[in-house]
Amino acid sequence: MALRGMGVLLILWVTEGSMRDDDFPFYDLGTIPAWRDLRSLRGTQSQDQFDKEKYHKQLKELDVQSLYESISRLMKDSKAFWPADGPQDGDVASYAGLFERLAWHCSGTFRLVNGTAAGGCEGARQRHWPENEWRDNSNLDKARGLLGQVKHEFGSQISWSDLLTFAGTTAIKASGGPAKKFCFGRVDDVNGKRSIPLGVEGVKECLGNKFCKSDFECPVAFRWPEQDEADHARCNLTQPHHRLQASHSVGLIYVYPEGPELKSSAKGYSAKQVHNRSPRFSALEVRDTFKERMGWTDRETVALIGGGHTMGRTHGNCNLTGTKWASHPYNEVGPFFEAQAGALRGPTDGTCGTGASAGLAQNTVSSGFEGPWTRTPSQWNYDFFDAMLTEEWEPVKSPFGADQWRTKSRHSTYASTMRLTADLSLVNDETYAAIAREYAADHAKFDSDFADAWYKLVHRSEDNPNENDLESKFGVCTRFEFVK
Ligand code: HEM
Repeated sequence: MALRGMGVLLILWVTEGSMRDDDFPFYDLGTIPAWRDLRSLRGTQSQDQFDKEKYHKQLKELDVQSLYESISRLMKDSKAFWPADGPQDGDVASYAGLFERLAWHCSGTFRLVNGTAAGGCEGARQRHWPENEWRDNSNLDKARGLLGQVKHEFGSQISWSDLLTFAGTTAIKASGGPAKKFCFGRVDDVNGKRSIPLGVEGVKECLGNKFCKSDFECPVAFRWPEQDEADHARCNLTQPHHRLQASHSVGLIYVYPEGPELKSSAKGYSAKQVHNRSPRFSALEVRDTFKERMGWTDRETVALIGGGHTMGRTHGNCNLTGTKWASHPYNEVGPFFEAQAGALRGPTDGTCGTGASAGLAQNTVSSGFEGPWTRTPSQWNYDFFDAMLTEEWEPVKSPFGADQWRTKSRHSTYASTMRLTADLSLVNDETYAAIAREYAADHAKFDSDFADAWYKLVHRSEDNPNENDLESKFGVCTRFEFVK
């Protein structure tokens, strides 16, 4: 076993760095090479311990306004090595959605199960294995690589955990969205050890199997009685250790976006549709994850998903049918550094498209879904709930083949937007729908609730489980007074 582990280590050593430095100058600041993480987990590499005291003292001198300005500038500065979204949707180029998803996926690991907190962005373990391997985190290595420029500029004045959470908050604020306050003080971990209980996906062998139990499948599969037997099973909520993951173990940590597929005998099934994903059952899975595992109320859940999917887009504008990747778009050997050739994620492979734009911009595949949620994905707006409440949505396939939804009226003002089944769950559950209607009618209430929930999202973690812990301990906060 030890020898097999060494084999993996050797391969990683040889191929690490296949994404060229001149293409992505600060890539390695954002994502730690897998070989280094594995050595650190084995205890064979001495660590530079993060000096907490020094950091907290230094924070008092942090020029928050110039940090905000650096991130906002970067957000609008589309780079050839990872072009910003916007042009493909008739919008201006912006990394706002990407930075917001980065902060959400870093913070959304937070779990509150039976009063015990786990996960959260403090520690910045998303830079490390295993979080940087999770399918849910695809292409976030590029976002961290872009922010490496800001990290390079500010050096030890800002920890990665503070930078990732502040970048997401800045992205919202600088796009016209609501943000009330942000507090600094998060410290970084030296490796991803504390993320291992949250799940290791698809890894068959490494480190003599010490850390590499694959949690891809649940020990006890659960399907709704109305669900197709061939569809993904859920991890039953009563399985204790799986409450650290999401209601589905697929992708590992959040919610299964496609939702459950109905079986042909279920009420509402139609053989004429390209899919029969159920927003009603998806709502139960959203609640299972957001309320039972992450500790959010229904109101916070609706505000967070609605605000999150006001910005940015999904990426899956590539049809792999007939290619060798068709049945197996992801590497499941691992641990597999995302940028490494063979990881099938992003520019190193160029699985989609040809020439200079292979794997980039309109050829990016992250989740396999395709399209924006709103008409201006780079700017805060109120399309998300309005479109879901006023339009009829019909099932379609993305070019990649994922099950999603579009407006039935092809002349609608929202015709260019899309929805996931998990989005539509918010108008197919009585409690969620009442809140969605309230937000569609009262934008100020939506803004205020989203800003509060976002603050809580990026401030709670295993180390500081209460939303005001960072403020009361370190007192370095901004209310964005400098933003005009
Ligand atoms: C039911 C819960 C959720 C599901 C199933 C879900 C699913 C997804 C999926 C599939 C994508 C597309 C990724 C890609 O292809 O690039 C995405 C993107 C995104 N999500 Fe979510 N999400 C959820 C909740 C949230 C929340 C709570 C937030 C923030 C508060 C959020 C913020 C975003 C943003 C900003 C993007 C756009 C990324 C970009 O433009 O590159 N999501 N989400």
